[in-house]
Amino acid sequence: MIVPREIQTTDAVAEHYDELDPFYREIWGEHVHHGLWTSGREAPDEAVEALVAHLADTLDLRPGQHVCDVGCGYGATAEWLARHYDVRVTGVTVSSAQLRQARTRSTASPLLHFIRQDWLENTFADETFDHVIAIESSEHMSDKQRFFDEVFRTLRPGGRLAIYAWLARDGARRWEERYLLEPICREGRLPSMGSEAEYRAWASNAGLVVDGFEDLSARVRRTWALCTRRVATKLLTHSRYRRYLLDARAKNRIFALSVPRIWIAYLTGSMRYGLLRAHKP
Ligand SMILES: C[S@@+](CC[C@H](N)C(=O)[O-])C[C@H]1O[C@@H](n2cnc3c(N)ncnc32)[C@H](O)[C@@H]1O
Repeated sequence: MIVPREIQTTDAVAEHYDELDPFYREIWGEHVHHGLWTSGREAPDEAVEALVAHLADTLDLRPGQHVCDVGCGYGATAEWLARHYDVRVTGVTVSSAQLRQARTRSTASPLLHFIRQDWLENTFADETFDHVIAIESSEHMSDKQRFFDEVFRTLRPGGRLAIYAWLARDGARRWEERYLLEPICREGRLPSMGSEAEYRAWASNAGLVVDGFEDLSARVRRTWALCTRRVATKLLTHSRYRRYLLDARAKNRIFALSVPRIWIAYLTGSMRYGLLRAHKP
């Protein structure tokens, strides 16, 4: 497991998303996750929805079922699932800025419910959910075993889990850790970055049965070429971006360095992106 040299707390994660809220929405849009390319000709908006659709395909969602979206961001995935599958979705985020935006969706749909809560301290009753999903949020949790223990506790028997996660290559070399993976964790507020083997072990230790793992690195990495280009363009054309980067009080401006760094980490194979599927027996 890759651990940054400075401790990353849940409060720091919340602050990251609150402070960078306008930039996330302008650079990523309201789906704060990778896109998934199949033909390579998909537009970026199609690719981000394709990533959600790919995950949904693995879950066997039925109308009326209750899904928990752990780390729901602006609620765009929750809304997509409710619209396409008629499921109820409860979304959890630690960011107040994200919650405000997500709640504009739940006022328009009785199927959606959003709360601000730390998943590791969640107050859901045992066996509340038919499915739990986590799109790029487990990376931000300091105790990954507890993340999976809480999935197990809150899933009903037979319930399914699907997670997209940023992963470190198994057995990453010293230079990869030093120049790519450790800084990516520190700049992006990840208390740690696990490998495929570690994710499988955490899920099994929690009592879940791992149904499969899919390495999607090659199909998602274009996201970072796009984001690097978008950030560079904004810096050239918007003084607000330049002011933010030069503002010494801006605690999360350092994340700008991670945008090209992550792209390089995918190209070198140091970082991977995977879909882990599991169920509660
Ligand atoms: C990269 S964003 C992904 C957002 C969303 N899943 C999406 O795909 O648009 C990471 C999300 O994880 C959430 N998160 C991080 N740590 C969390 C925790 N301990 N409990 C709940 N949510 C958390 C953040 O608030 C944020 O919404």
